[in-house]
Amino acid sequence: MVSTKDIASQVESLREQLREHNYRYYVLDDPEITDAEYDRLFKALQKLEQQFPDLVTADSPTARIGEKPDKGFSQIKHEIPMLSLSNAFSEQDVIAFVKRVCDRLGSPDNIEFVAEPKLDGLAVSLIYKNGLLFQAATRGDGSTGEDITPNIKTVRSVPLSLRGDFYSSKIEVRGEVIMTHAGFKKLNQEQDEMRTGKRYVNPRNAAAGSLRQLDPAITAKRPLEIYFYSLDQFEGINLKFTTHIEKLAFIKNAGLRVNPLLKVVNGAKGCLKAHQQLAKKRQSLAYDIDGIVYKANRLDYQNSLGFVARAPRWALAHKFPAQEETTIVKSIEVQVGRTGAITPVARLKPVFVGGVTVSNVTLHNKSEIERQDIRVGDTVVVRRAGDVIPEVVKVLDEMRPEHSTPYVFPSQCPVCDSEIVYETSEVIARCSGGLYCSAQLIEGIKHFASRKAMDIEGLGSKLVEQLVTEGHVKTVADIYHLSKDSIANLERMADKSAQKLIDAIEKSKSTTLAKFLYSLGITHVGETTAQALANEFADLGVLMVADLEKLQAVDDVGPVVSHSVANFFKESHNIEVIKKLIESGVHWPRIEKVPVSEDHEFYNKSFVITGTLSKPREVYSALIKRAGGKVTSSVSRNTDYVLAGENPGSKLDKAMNLGTEILDEDRFHQLLGAGDN
Ligand code: IVH
Repeated sequence: MVSTKDIASQVESLREQLREHNYRYYVLDDPEITDAEYDRLFKALQKLEQQFPDLVTADSPTARIGEKPDKGFSQIKHEIPMLSLSNAFSEQDVIAFVKRVCDRLGSPDNIEFVAEPKLDGLAVSLIYKNGLLFQAATRGDGSTGEDITPNIKTVRSVPLSLRGDFYSSKIEVRGEVIMTHAGFKKLNQEQDEMRTGKRYVNPRNAAAGSLRQLDPAITAKRPLEIYFYSLDQFEGINLKFTTHIEKLAFIKNAGLRVNPLLKVVNGAKGCLKAHQQLAKKRQSLAYDIDGIVYKANRLDYQNSLGFVARAPRWALAHKFPAQEETTIVKSIEVQVGRTGAITPVARLKPVFVGGVTVSNVTLHNKSEIERQDIRVGDTVVVRRAGDVIPEVVKVLDEMRPEHSTPYVFPSQCPVCDSEIVYETSEVIARCSGGLYCSAQLIEGIKHFASRKAMDIEGLGSKLVEQLVTEGHVKTVADIYHLSKDSIANLERMADKSAQKLIDAIEKSKSTTLAKFLYSLGITHVGETTAQALANEFADLGVLMVADLEKLQAVDDVGPVVSHSVANFFKESHNIEVIKKLIESGVHWPRIEKVPVSEDHEFYNKSFVITGTLSKPREVYSALIKRAGGKVTSSVSRNTDYVLAGENPGSKLDKAMNLGTEILDEDRFHQLLGAGDN
């Protein structure tokens, strides 16, 4: 029989393992086991604790969700005030700061600083007693915050107990609770799905809102994380530190997650370099940061510098350009796209945000305008983070002018006056004018000529607009009947540029089936779908008469895409245009259909194509895929064949080094056994 003592030690061993795995996962970012294995250990512990409730302890890794406090959050007075930081916005500010610090210390101007990302979340203070999480508080006004202990316990990167020997000690640490971009996006999606009507404006507000939920069971569902940035008190434990970085190393070893991007730097030069490096990284980080914090590393320096007002003299926050700014909506206009989709756009009073000046921002669609109730004259918060397109995240209701009225979405196309119709779900509005609408025609032609489509070099936006408005081009087929004279007569065109365009048009006639399909601008048929359709059908004629079932046999083609394709080829004017294009000489190499057979030499083989071949690469890719192989972009040990044309470059060298088999076009066709290609 298993004794209670054995069970107790089994339970403790499971807890130890889980704590160590948590530490490896969150703090070291170096997990030893998979999530599934972790879950197994966790469930095993949960099961034993259910069977033997006497063994349950408050610091068990399973004890994260506690009771809701019945009287709301209680107040906690910080034993040591939670200060703020002085801000700097320019290099001069930083140079002046370092000089001030060094002058006061009477030291040379290259003292050490710890440069840490300034995380954009909310500050919390945690107290551990005897190594166990005892209390957590928000910053509040700096001297009094709110007791959020049950909530902080639900944050998985917060350890419920510290690693190491903390017998009879009291430790206070501070850090920032954040939400990652992915967590934020998911949370807002869930809020939409649950129709709570509550969406968060940015990850910081979402983190704050989540941490301040009265019910910790709700907080537990929110994707919160933490990074600790300071050790503020330690009692009953024999510790000596001379620098801030030593303190950080200590808390990290105790299981408290410290941001991996911080580093020790020297003088103003080192600070500014760290700022530049972090600014470059900002875009690719999983969470928001709004600057970098420099902290004098030596603790004796910190002590002698002291504080002024509510900020330490030994630290500085060097901010990045803001990613959110407020501005005014001057007007709302709608734009007509290639497929007639009507997109509302707000014209803004230009505002510098996220490092660029933004004067237009998409409002996405009618229901989005209604959801946010965006009106002309409104003051709005615009966000531009990294390369993400700018967007309105919030209307400041209190700034709304008197007598403002809701925006009325037009019922007619602003370009051709045709009626605007809605797709099911009422989200996407479309102009019903088709090619009668010059906006759709212009967009359609721009798309046709674009690089990934027919690739007509030099046929850009301005030129397309002129050709359409002056009546030279009514369908894409007309492009192939343009005369040099008619082009040369256009504004900003001369004989030479006209000839160049004629040559480019001629050159574009030689294409691939996939590019041709893509260029037709069939709704929902992007580059990948066009390629998949070309691979599957190989022949345009076969594709044009394919029924829904046949179309849906293609990868990623579902009911929506198949209907769109089938409808496109039912329209007589589309067939007419295709016929004319082919009559004008548009052509592509024929792809022979090779049935996929597991016996084929290329079945399941991995290819890399390099160098110039006698036919476009897409042709070879299609042939390989058709025979059951796949094409990747770089040579590795997993590559089975390299198909090399002329001037192959470094991929061939790598293949030779690895001993990968190299094929020229002849040998490729021999192995493919496909006859005339
Ligand atoms: S140190 C006395 N370090 O910035 C030092 N703060 O404006 C006080 N913050 O309330 C804070 N990242 O919420 C420090 N690495 C970091 C930080 C950081 C973000 C926030 C924190 C604080 C505010 C100060």
